[in-house]
Amino acid sequence: MRREQALAKACSLLREQGKEESIARFLLMYLLDEKPNKFINKYKEDLTKEIIDKYFLLINEHIKYNKPLSHLVGFDYFYDRKFKVTTAVLSPRMETEELVYKVVDYIRSNNLNNIKILDLCTGSGIIAITLKKELSDLNINVTASDISDEALHIAKNNALYHKENIQFIRSNIFENIYDNFDIIVSNPPYISYDYKENMTSDVLDYDPHLALFAEEDGMYFYREILENAVDYLTNNGLIFFEIGYDQKEKLEKLAHLNNYDVNIYKDINGRDRIAKLKNKIN
Ligand SMILES: C[S@@+](CC[C@H](N)C(=O)[O-])C[C@H]1O[C@@H](n2cnc3c(N)ncnc32)[C@H](O)[C@@H]1O
Repeated sequence: MRREQALAKACSLLREQGKEESIARFLLMYLLDEKPNKFINKYKEDLTKEIIDKYFLLINEHIKYNKPLSHLVGFDYFYDRKFKVTTAVLSPRMETEELVYKVVDYIRSNNLNNIKILDLCTGSGIIAITLKKELSDLNINVTASDISDEALHIAKNNALYHKENIQFIRSNIFENIYDNFDIIVSNPPYISYDYKENMTSDVLDYDPHLALFAEEDGMYFYREILENAVDYLTNNGLIFFEIGYDQKEKLEKLAHLNNYDVNIYKDINGRDRIAKLKNKIN
């Protein structure tokens, strides 16, 4: 079977099931380990039986089990860098790139250097590792923590792959943290359990529920962090959160209860998504 025939067949299978067809091209490039510019000139070439079998196995897994692309190939991209993902970690989301962008922008525009950052609930380590990479000209010390040993294993692998030195700590929120930080950044679990029934199987079956859901209508982690963070922030230290698009008011209420000034920023879709918090006393 030629590449063009395999692609046409895969696209038609995907189309019949109402699935995104672009996945067909990506998966074949992945199996052949080729970049788009090389791939496009070779449509007439024959594929080996091994590749054809693997290819249609992946296409079928996607169709039958709604398995997302990141889980079919075992990695995803964040800030244009490759990160290993498994069912132990949340697959990177676009909104989180905007959170990292805000932190980087804040550090750059305030000429901060020689600072310590804590990435709470690090998952695959994307926030911690990307901050180190994007600020590689500065002296930034990054600690990353998570309650899940499996997630920390993936995060450590990702840090090794990107050759970044990060201190990883297994911790239930602040339980095993004994330092002060200039910036605490976190994308904690924030989906209310009530919302579960609206979610699709590509998320519910592949992203760990430990990474998705939070008690108190999704606000548990924000409350816990805001009630305790002063003990882990330096003077003038800041907190950056990713929040659910409908959590602005609830977060503002929590911020005021705990003596924080809060700024909420919208993502590129115009949804309230990032919170910056500064303690009024600290
Ligand atoms: C929404 S995911 C975020 C992962 C990653 N930072 C990202 O942005 O893709 C939340 C993470 O919080 C971790 N987590 C859940 N409960 C926790 C707790 N009590 N203490 C620390 N981490 C926790 C989960 O294991 C998961 O990795």
